Amino acid sequence: MATATDYDLLLAQAEAITAGEPDLIANLSNLSALVYEALDDVNWVGFYLTRAPETLVLGPFQGKVACLRIAFGKGVCGTAATTRETQRVIDVHEFPGHIACDSASNSEVVVPLIVADRVVGVFDLDSPSVGRFSTEDAAGLTRLGRFIETLNWN
Ligand code: SME
Repeated sequence: MATATDYDLLLAQAEAITAGEPDLIANLSNLSALVYEALDDVNWVGFYLTRAPETLVLGPFQGKVACLRIAFGKGVCGTAATTRETQRVIDVHEFPGHIACDSASNSEVVVPLIVADRVVGVFDLDSPSVGRFSTEDAAGLTRLGRFIETLNWN
């Protein structure tokens, strides 16, 4: 479990590795690698980007091959997109409509990314352990999401 202080460090690292780089895909690629390495007990960390109307399309990530497209409202990612609220799922098998990309995943956090009042994508993390993500993790990852929203999305 990570503390607020751990997330302070992760946020500082995220700022450092993206500083001065305007390319969104380059930044999201390195951010997924950073977070995947920094957090223990995670098996997928990455992004789905709103590339078509009400549709999340797979973006930069670390982990196993994943679903390509998720409609808004579907699964944990699509629920984050429609509710615009971070989703913290203690046991994905209890979540109605959960989309199983990697059968090893048992818990999940998804942070919606909102720029100029538009859901531009989601930041998704999976763990093989039930209950891996605490409320502190969800808060820290949401803070990270707020930073990711400040990148160049144009
Ligand atoms: N489990 C997600 C789908 C994406 S994978 O976890 C990478 C969901 O239900 O939205």
